[in-house]
Amino acid sequence: MRLTVIGTGYLGATHAACMAELGHEVLGVDVDPDKIAALQSGSVPFYEPGLAELIAEHVASGRLRFTTSYRQAAAFAEVHFSCVGTPQLPDGQGADLRYVDAVIESLAPYLDRPALVVGKSTVPVGTAARLSGRLAELAPAGARVRLAWNPEFLREGFAIEDTLRPDRLVIGFDDGDSASEPLLREVYRPLLDAGVPLVVTDFPTAELAKTSANAFLATKISFINAMAEVCEAAGADVAQLSAALSYDTRIGGRFLHAGVGFGGGCLPKDIRAFRTRAEELGVGRALAFLDEVDAINLRRRDRVMELAAELLPGGLSGRRVAVWGCAFKPDSDDIRDSPALDLAGRLHQAGASVSVYDPHAMDNARKLRPELDYGTGPLESAQGAELILHLTEWRDFRELDPRAVAEVVARPQIVDGRNVLDRDGWRAAGWTFRSLGRQ
Ligand code: UDX
Repeated sequence: MRLTVIGTGYLGATHAACMAELGHEVLGVDVDPDKIAALQSGSVPFYEPGLAELIAEHVASGRLRFTTSYRQAAAFAEVHFSCVGTPQLPDGQGADLRYVDAVIESLAPYLDRPALVVGKSTVPVGTAARLSGRLAELAPAGARVRLAWNPEFLREGFAIEDTLRPDRLVIGFDDGDSASEPLLREVYRPLLDAGVPLVVTDFPTAELAKTSANAFLATKISFINAMAEVCEAAGADVAQLSAALSYDTRIGGRFLHAGVGFGGGCLPKDIRAFRTRAEELGVGRALAFLDEVDAINLRRRDRVMELAAELLPGGLSGRRVAVWGCAFKPDSDDIRDSPALDLAGRLHQAGASVSVYDPHAMDNARKLRPELDYGTGPLESAQGAELILHLTEWRDFRELDPRAVAEVVARPQIVDGRNVLDRDGWRAAGWTFRSLGRQ
């Protein structure tokens, strides 16, 4: 089939490459000519394992092309995936829908043939119905244009796997639209044949399927981080507690890892936007717990600051601290709402001399926080440090020999903000080792 994918950021570039991988002919569309030129030459402006290779493969096979022209997009295909971002508004609460609106406004006037626009972005419930009205309004008179909502659940670092082997597909259709479902079933045929469950529903349920999934995941992480606070007060061990909980199959062990909390371009902003939307709908109380989920998450960062102050008595000013990791999670160069980078900035503000090292995210971090020092490797960043904060759990850090690290630091003290380092091994090598939620 022929498809377009509009918006070639993280979600769109992945979706375009994966649709080509499924055998479709794909036209990627973006308003940024530099991005389009880069993608056309197989280069991806962010780090995602395997994506640059997949794009290059399908540009070479001729199944994937890119353009900046909406006119060309409208003429190219019947199915158009809208994959643009919905960032947090400057008020820090609601979602900025200007890009999702712009796709409809730019594409609709050219749709002089039957067209199905499929929204994949994470949006406040009610957006799809509004966009569907706009699409009908702006399309040429008499054109058969429809909208469907098909939220994307991919995780950074696993974007290709999550797109080609998703846990489920959820698609919302408008009342009385009988033509769109067969078309989308055709698009996703290889996944459906492989047994991926499909939930067919209405617009608001499809939109909520995404925002409520993110709310649930954030709640699960904050639940275990709240238990970490209790463990700290009661002398218990949250890692062992989490293991004990995880054997209950009703609870399960995934997203039950206590540490410095969640960050990234999705969970924090999505729970805030969801909360705001519930207020608008008059059901604010139903989601009031998300304020607490957010607060628990942010308190974990305060706890790391407390531990730093405790381990460096006499004040942070002038003290050398190494921060290991600045991506919001490993296997990503994304620093959006990264707990690690936030903490590096807070330590710097408190007067500490901070040296950050991350295997992939330092270019992005330098742009956002040029005031910090950046090392060339974990050992180099730890040189002369009185304290190491391990805040993003890259494998590189787990594989370090604590004895080799002890040789370069001024004082062997480490806070494992992700609870993944071998505590006994580090202690045996002479380290003062502190964790979150553990003794
Ligand atoms: C998330 C959702 O998982 C995905 O379905 C959605 O489409 C987008 O948002 P992503 O932001 O890529 O994906 O990251 P994810 O792997 O979910 O991790 C989110 C954050 O939670 C990270 O900062 C991670 O370090 C943290 N986390 C995750 C924990 O602190 N503990 C856990 O047990 C799991």
